Amino acid sequence: MYFIANWKMFGSLNSLNSLNKVIKFFKIFKKNKFLKIVYCPPTTLLGPMAEIFKKTKIDIGAQNCHEQDSYGAFTGSVNSKMLKNIGAKYVIIGHSENRQRGENDKLINQKIKSASRSGLKVIFCIGETLNEKRKKITKKVLNRQLRLGLSKIKSKNKIIIAYEPVWSIGTGLIPNASDLYETINFIKKKIRKIKVLYGGSVNPKNIDYLKTINNLDGYLIGSASQNSKKFIDIIKKRYS
Ligand code: 13P
Repeated sequence: MYFIANWKMFGSLNSLNSLNKVIKFFKIFKKNKFLKIVYCPPTTLLGPMAEIFKKTKIDIGAQNCHEQDSYGAFTGSVNSKMLKNIGAKYVIIGHSENRQRGENDKLINQKIKSASRSGLKVIFCIGETLNEKRKKITKKVLNRQLRLGLSKIKSKNKIIIAYEPVWSIGTGLIPNASDLYETINFIKKKIRKIKVLYGGSVNPKNIDYLKTINNLDGYLIGSASQNSKKFIDIIKKRYS
């Protein structure tokens, strides 16, 4: 079961102080063998976080990467090789916040390939907008995102899908259990043996509800993950 923290464009060196709580919690948590914690901070904090988690079983990941894995004159960009070099094991690709800023399926596909070549595990985000949900074309949208995003990628064993309905991100809204179960099942039928996470407003209050959806392999957590206590609460409650 994955618990992946996506800090988005939040966090400073001071924010790292509370991670000790998470390290301590993980060490003594009885079910720790069954879970994988991954922190995806902004690029600026990858190095310091790698240091903090060095002697722990907690992994770090980046939130995006350039589509080219070789070096080049791309001002402001970071490639998957550089991320791997600083200690990242994962990278989030295809997040709706980046799709909304112009990343299309083709670019996302190139990024996934680049990350895979560098040996990073990819957290591949897909999800429908509110408008698409209203039009009842969720499956069509997910199908397209999966088909184009994973085009010509043979081995998918280093890819994890994060289903994040755009309308649930940062809104406090979550899908109802039967819709979510069905969507996760749909994704798992399309891509055999793939792990599928849910993301969108996961918090210590709604985890009791979300844990009833038993085909999920974990959660991609945004704002609640910036607060160590909330993040720990989510994990504890998931297993209570
Ligand atoms: P929130 O948990 O803040 O809704 O964000 C979800 C998300 O986008 C994680 O990638």
